[in-house]
Amino acid sequence: MYLTDEEKRILDGGEGAGKQKAMEMLYALGLTFDAEKLIPVKRAHVALSGQEGDTYWCELLVNGGATCAVPPTTNPYWDTNYLTKFFDVTKEELELADRTGDAYRRIGAKLTYHCAPGVCSNVPFFGEHVAFSESSATPYVNGALGARSNRESSVSALAAAVIGKTPYYGFHIDENRYGDFAVDVEADLESCYDWGILGHCLGKIAGNRIPVLRFKKPVRPTQEDFLYFGAEAATSGAVAMYHMVGITPEAPTIEAAFGGRKVPSAECVLTNKDLKDREDMLTPATGKINLVMLGCPHYTYNQLLDVERLLAGRHICNETAFWILAESGAVELAERSHLRQRLELLGVRMVGDTCIDEPCWKSFEGALGVTDSPKCAYYRERRGQPFAIRRLSECIDAAVKGRLD
Ligand code: F3S
Repeated sequence: MYLTDEEKRILDGGEGAGKQKAMEMLYALGLTFDAEKLIPVKRAHVALSGQEGDTYWCELLVNGGATCAVPPTTNPYWDTNYLTKFFDVTKEELELADRTGDAYRRIGAKLTYHCAPGVCSNVPFFGEHVAFSESSATPYVNGALGARSNRESSVSALAAAVIGKTPYYGFHIDENRYGDFAVDVEADLESCYDWGILGHCLGKIAGNRIPVLRFKKPVRPTQEDFLYFGAEAATSGAVAMYHMVGITPEAPTIEAAFGGRKVPSAECVLTNKDLKDREDMLTPATGKINLVMLGCPHYTYNQLLDVERLLAGRHICNETAFWILAESGAVELAERSHLRQRLELLGVRMVGDTCIDEPCWKSFEGALGVTDSPKCAYYRERRGQPFAIRRLSECIDAAVKGRLD
């Protein structure tokens, strides 16, 4: 792998121990994937999670004198000021959250605490080389926006932010972005929930291959649809790049999506029945619920409006908590527009800067929760709370009744 004199100097420790560690990480990654060289990036997104390992890495770099050449945006951890009014956390959990914020602040990150950066807080342009971690963010920037990112970890994305470069391999190179197989989609896609279930079906089939989707009925996905589709395809599989013929920027035609190679016949056809079967497999649980949790990935302002519309003035059952996690700008807008206040009167709470996979939610563990996101269910179940997955209107009906039928 070719390194410039300046890169070699950093690797040899000439700019301090922190930058040396970051360069060691990029160099090791480059060697592993046969990268020819490093290329500059002007954007990065770090999947800060508030977990010990990620925080350790950030502290290692910043305590070694490193700061970010490219200030990265960050994933959420949890709003320690607001949520400690509602939930008990241990001193150690609070200390880790504070340590995490402090380390990322010192290294020069932009503390957006938002897991859908490509939607508003860090939006790359077509063809731009970037280093994005967060499993739902990478397919969005590659597939929907046509920017170029590998599936970075929080560790490699932070290293890229410190050096301002990333190894040139994988999705940075044209030939690695073309489709691997074709899928015909006949299913009706009416909401981001349907797109999420489609993504979940597809991830299982694709693994880490690049799917090319051809739609039998006209579709025009929204930002939220792309986001839910990619998040679920990256949860049930490892999809970091996809094409939708006539929709995504690198697939004006099916031939373009396959890079001029022979277009294969469709490996499968996904119908309404496939989506329904997948939904039934994901959502068998019923009974009394103690929590409705929405916003994994973070809800947009439009989705907050959807909640108000579907709730239609009904009050949430007193024994059920209803939490929406949203981008902090959307929460701020909701506050200014009094949407937040109107929803709170009905028993709905919203919070910015916060992930579903944090210790503040542990008081709900053991009883049934409901979400519109298979990704949320996947992570929460690992922490000990069973979750049912339903479309938004059904989540809201369950919240009003306090049970899921
Ligand atoms: Fe966002 Fe956390 Fe879900 S980072 S996508 S709320 S697992």
